[in-house]
Amino acid sequence: MNTKNAIANREVFEFKEMYCNENSIIIQLIKDRVAHLIESPVLDVGAGIGDIAYYAFSGLDVTMIDINPPSSFDYKCHNNHKRLVVDFFNYETDSKIATLFISHTLQFIDDDLGRLNDKVRELSPKWIVLVANANNDFIGDLIDWTDMHFENPNPERTINGFPCGYDLIKSEPFSAAVKCPSFECLADQVSYLMLIDLATKRQALINFLKSRLENPEFSFKQTINIYQQHGE
Ligand SMILES: C[S@@+](CC[C@H](N)C(=O)[O-])C[C@H]1O[C@@H](n2cnc3c(N)ncnc32)[C@H](O)[C@@H]1O
Repeated sequence: MNTKNAIANREVFEFKEMYCNENSIIIQLIKDRVAHLIESPVLDVGAGIGDIAYYAFSGLDVTMIDINPPSSFDYKCHNNHKRLVVDFFNYETDSKIATLFISHTLQFIDDDLGRLNDKVRELSPKWIVLVANANNDFIGDLIDWTDMHFENPNPERTINGFPCGYDLIKSEPFSAAVKCPSFECLADQVSYLMLIDLATKRQALINFLKSRLENPEFSFKQTINIYQQHGE
């Protein structure tokens, strides 16, 4: 079995805080360009270590959900924020959610598109803010390579038909960088991105990375997309 279906808080922390600059860019873009479209209350789906909510949503009511239990890697929680350990598909609330925030969690919840769209319809947020990779450039090549070498890789892929019932009203493209001290370390970060278990093919991935990159680093494009519910 080559597929990983979950990641630990430590892996999220290492990628986000040590090797990749994406979250600092996401936080700054939200504050500068998107904040006026984010309404309270927010449901942060797969909040990870909670840094985006801590820095970008401090003035909003936020529920951060994650299947991982709290850990020492987590950011502090503001008084108007709460953390719940719950699967997105099991999350229920009597309160209205104004904004559904999904940052790099799509690949974990998109196995069944109908189920995903049904859950979004049930929660019925006015806004959906989706942060996802653009799947082009070197990330596109990595996806092709892992598709060829692993049975069930699960990278973040663009999904036509999601979110159903929403209009894209704003896109904020940006470029992030992964920079590691070695190709071995970069292979671990790629395994995080592609959700692959490197047990048997670690050296093959290291060789591929070395054949394509001068140094253990690459940039990749991402987008913050803001969708509004039809009729709002
Ligand atoms: C790549 S991390 C993204 C963390 C954070 N959103 C960010 O951008 O920094 C994905 C997170 O989604 C969580 N996750 C995976 N499946 C989930 C599910 N079904 N419901 C809630 N959280 C989930 C994982 O445990 C992980 O913390």
